[in-house]
Amino acid sequence: MPDTITITDDRTGKTVTVPIEGGVFPAAAVRELDPSLFIYDPAYMQTAACRSAITYLDGDNGILRYRGYPIEQLAEHSTYLEVAYLLLNGELPDAAQLTKWKQDVTAHTFIHENMRKRFVDGFHYDAHPMGMLVSSLAALGTFYNDAKDIFDKPSRDKQILRLIAKTPTLAAMAYRFSVGLPFNYPDNALSFPANFLNMMWKIGDYEVDPRLERAMDVLFILHADHEQNCGTTAMRVVGSSHADPYSSCAAAASALYGPLHGGANEAVVRMLSEIGSMENVPAFIDDVKSGKGSRLMGFGHRVYKNYDPRAKIIKQTAYEVFEVTGKNPLLDIALALEETALNDPYFVDRKLYPNVDFYSGLIYQALGFPVDMFTVLFAIPRTVGWLAHWQELLGDKDQKISRPRQWYTGVDARDYVPVAAR
Ligand code: ACO
Repeated sequence: MPDTITITDDRTGKTVTVPIEGGVFPAAAVRELDPSLFIYDPAYMQTAACRSAITYLDGDNGILRYRGYPIEQLAEHSTYLEVAYLLLNGELPDAAQLTKWKQDVTAHTFIHENMRKRFVDGFHYDAHPMGMLVSSLAALGTFYNDAKDIFDKPSRDKQILRLIAKTPTLAAMAYRFSVGLPFNYPDNALSFPANFLNMMWKIGDYEVDPRLERAMDVLFILHADHEQNCGTTAMRVVGSSHADPYSSCAAAASALYGPLHGGANEAVVRMLSEIGSMENVPAFIDDVKSGKGSRLMGFGHRVYKNYDPRAKIIKQTAYEVFEVTGKNPLLDIALALEETALNDPYFVDRKLYPNVDFYSGLIYQALGFPVDMFTVLFAIPRTVGWLAHWQELLGDKDQKISRPRQWYTGVDARDYVPVAAR
């Protein structure tokens, strides 16, 4: 069978044949057929908006790879910083490259004092830390005017380092502010995840437990990238206007904030708390199915029509964390929900499986994070994914400013009527 597709415009009889490559054919075929013809594709369900060599995702078979490496192997053997290097550079670092990369990131963990004293301290006492992070990311860009030089590689690399290194500092600062605790400065003798945990929790002689440090790193690895999700698409759309990377990351973080995206882990814990006990699970599931209740949060995915491979690893990590912290009492409700849903035709027929958010909130809670911080914990490692896509976008000759078209369904032209005559 030829790897081509032929489209015929029945109005004119004109035919265009184009190649299918990797399951994709160019929309330019439609343009060639009739430049005034557009494809109606809400939510880009059937649209590949770019070429990308960063992350491979096979939703039917539950496969996720960063630059070709299976997520399971990276989660077991690597570190977040190693993965960050991989995502940005395409290859794993050798020992010397890794040492330099760690030093470079570590050198940028501090933030300008004005960010803390004047910007962050200006928030309302009960500001949501994700709202604070979104706006802090945008504000951070104003401290680095060289951020506008997006086609200058050394400048671009520096902004990437700054964003990866400073996001955990901003995140911990937002938390400490929200609970009225003094800010902990970064301790650059610590690893990336330990530094973050230390900034979050250090009071008195607090020391990071190495098992929790590793769990944090695994969660960072699992959340580092996920190809063209809503946040990354926001990064690419804003980046396509050649905005600086801080503004683009703020847009991506805003997308992540929504409950259908990164906000879902927060929604899962709220849902589990509302369910309250295992006896209430069947009634809750009935309400989900009848549409009377909310969706089963942490279930379903636009691309995965199988068990999300990240959810499997997170479930395992949850048990490892609970060995240190004690079991999260919501775990039993989560397990009962999962078992009920996986055996219920409503969920089976729609291929709804646990996604990355279903168990991550339980770990975060066991680690002591309030639910308001969950999406922030997602944003910290996803920053590198956003930046890897931003960098790829800037080097892609096919890309222009993102500007989709619309299907106009409004009224036809009509004459203005003065208010007195209406
Ligand atoms: N609970 C109950 N039913 C669901 C769920 C769910 N979690 N997810 C989808 N469905 C149903 C829909 O009602 C729909 O049923 P219908 O065909 O009878 O109308 C069908 O499954 C298809 O759902 P869509 O909304 O068309 O699927 P879409 O791909 O647009 O949505 C999404 C994906 C947003 C993730 C959805 O599954 C959802 O809302 N899940 C809950 C929120 C969540 O966990 N989000 C995190 C996603 S992972 C991430 O962003 C990091």
